[in-house]
Amino acid sequence: MNLAFLEGKVYLFELCYLTMSEFVNILTEERQGILYLTINREDKLNAMNLATLAELRSVFDQVMDNKAIKAVILTGAGEKAFVAGADITEIASLNEVNARKFAESGQEIFAMIENCHKPVIAVTNGYTLGGGCELAMACHMRIATANAKFGQPEVNLGIIPGYGGTQRLTLLVGRGKANELMMTGDMIGAEEAKSLGLVNHVFPTKQEAISGAEAIIEKIMGKAPLAIGMVVDCVNAVFLEENGYQTEANSFARCVKSGDYKEGTSAFLEKRKPVFRGE
Ligand code: COA
Repeated sequence: MNLAFLEGKVYLFELCYLTMSEFVNILTEERQGILYLTINREDKLNAMNLATLAELRSVFDQVMDNKAIKAVILTGAGEKAFVAGADITEIASLNEVNARKFAESGQEIFAMIENCHKPVIAVTNGYTLGGGCELAMACHMRIATANAKFGQPEVNLGIIPGYGGTQRLTLLVGRGKANELMMTGDMIGAEEAKSLGLVNHVFPTKQEAISGAEAIIEKIMGKAPLAIGMVVDCVNAVFLEENGYQTEANSFARCVKSGDYKEGTSAFLEKRKPVFRGE
């Protein structure tokens, strides 16, 4: 692995290209033109550490170039979580400089997913929180199991979403509901997420949700691939708001300067309630 460190824990993602056989945090399987990606840190509820992000970046580089891959289904290992967020053990030691880099690198990788010319569908089961919800939102569609729970609980840690969540959630569910979800940190269930437009379809089980994603992909595979790529570009063009993402990365970095951020992340790791002081 060619990973370099930036101030201890934030990797320079630019240096990091891995082949799929080198992955340790993501399982890959290709069947009939579909690449199945599974975030595989089940004991940590599939929390995404920086190495997982580096693998995601590498895999999407390869998806673009590999003619045999026509579509991607992204899910989380086990029944309890899709992804319960970015890895708080890494978030807990950010500073203002590397926090901006942390947010920008994640934003860049999620933009690769969003801009992929082949359909990418998230199948979300269980906890889909923080960076996990942001990852799902970067996919072209979201199919949830009935037990899925969505939320942006970063305020509990004294931070805000940093991987594009402030932008994509607002665009998907509207300003009022996005404010409510990001200010309260509340979780919502799959049916409510569907009613808000965050989720396309809900199925009782993970296997049925995967079959639902496969049925959509089968339809798309019968269409003109170039036209599908143009749909991706044009839909994303509606949502282009570069300044919003920059504001998010800057604000994320400012949060990391605060005592509340130290308190929020320490409280999670020490398994206690945080006491915030607004400073
Ligand atoms: N980062 C790092 N570790 C995480 C994690 C995260 N985002 N989410 C869960 N984990 C770890 C827990 O620390 C625990 O590890 P341990 O067994 O070594 O103690 C393990 O995953 C299981 O989680 P646990 O909290 O014991 O499960 P639970 O069923 O009691 O609670 C959640 C589930 C999702 C409510 C809870 O884990 C949680 O609040 N996670 C953080 C969510 C979050 O804030 N995400 C945004 C991060 S930016």
